Amino acid sequence: MTVPAAADPSRPPYRFPVAARYAGMESSPLKDIFALAAREDVVSFAGGIPDPSLFALEDVEDCYDWVLEHQGHRALQYGVSEGEVELREQAARRLSRDLPTDASQIRVTSGSQEGLFVVAQALLEPGDVVLVESPTYLAAVQAFSVHGARMIGVETDDDGVVPEALAEAIRTHHPRMVYLIPSFQNPTGRTMPVARRQAVAEVLLRTDVPLIEDDPYGALSFTGSTWAPIASLPGMSERTILLNSMSKLMAPGVRIGWMRAEGEVLNTLAVTKAAISMQSSVVDQLMVARYLATADLDAHVAQVSAVYRERRDAMARAIAPVLPEGAHVTHPDGGMFLWAALGEGYDAQDMLADSVEAGVAYLPGWSFFADDPDRSTMRLSFVTHSPAVIEDAIGRLGEVIARHGGR
Ligand SMILES: Cc1ncc(COP(=O)(O)O)c(C=O)c1O
Repeated sequence: MTVPAAADPSRPPYRFPVAARYAGMESSPLKDIFALAAREDVVSFAGGIPDPSLFALEDVEDCYDWVLEHQGHRALQYGVSEGEVELREQAARRLSRDLPTDASQIRVTSGSQEGLFVVAQALLEPGDVVLVESPTYLAAVQAFSVHGARMIGVETDDDGVVPEALAEAIRTHHPRMVYLIPSFQNPTGRTMPVARRQAVAEVLLRTDVPLIEDDPYGALSFTGSTWAPIASLPGMSERTILLNSMSKLMAPGVRIGWMRAEGEVLNTLAVTKAAISMQSSVVDQLMVARYLATADLDAHVAQVSAVYRERRDAMARAIAPVLPEGAHVTHPDGGMFLWAALGEGYDAQDMLADSVEAGVAYLPGWSFFADDPDRSTMRLSFVTHSPAVIEDAIGRLGEVIARHGGR
């Protein structure tokens, strides 16, 4: 009697065929971060995870209640790929502070991450080059590279991407697009000053290369100053897709963001979005629209920023004395991240196991580089824990750094 194939114990387990572009990616880099953040014995600075105690839970609850009571049937129905008009109007109103924007120029997304995927799907051909800051946001690199793009990192300094290096990279690599995070960048926390934004715009205006400007953090300012997007500089709005997100300002679990663009590409973006997910959750869109119309997001963001600022101060104070000589650390004026380069002889990836053992996690910086990584770097998010917890944990990280010195 022959053994039925399904019952044959010598048969290897079925291996599901997956696309080459995802083969070998068993877990997303962000999933690992969330796993670390969830461990109770570890103080994690690894994720960009807002402090949930700062969420405006009551306002959000009121807005959901209102939407279900007054717009319930519509909220639970399919909607349009472009996004619900109330939300697009609110997005346009906020953007118009810096850049005149009409609701028809907004495309709603399920967070900026989906926005980046939509952009990649709409714009990229396999083999295209995307120029990115070195270092840049790793999940953007992933969204672009699964579409077959080749990422090339452009030199940065404390003011962001270096315009001459950008011009040279455009000449050499003929990119399909440039991707930048000009305000409180992930992972470095750096912000491009106005003059640098102008210089970058001048470089781009001499070419046909579009800009993908990712701005999820710009409003989280610790000084009260915010920067108008590069998209608002003369000539730039028609060649920029600007992405915003409610994740860091309101709550990431809501998964609502939007893109602003002009002209025909708006249609392509809507068709792409429809192919991916039809539309973002209507009930969530209407809730956010209601929140933006009735609650004071700016006041909420100011409160959150004041707390984050104290935490930035605590981390900056604690880390300065434990860094080795010659190390470089950023001092962000907003956002969520501080970036440290320990320098020659250190490998932040090698150090991580010891650090987790000591009860502290950070994100090794190498993964944020499209090419030529500086392995001595680490990203530390200062937003999730209280100043006392931060100071204690950075002290323990300091002991790990000292043990690894000169290896
Ligand atoms: C630069 C940048 N872009 C986009 C995102 C995606 O955020 P979300 O999809 O929650 O809007 C993040 C999240 O950390 C980010 O840091």
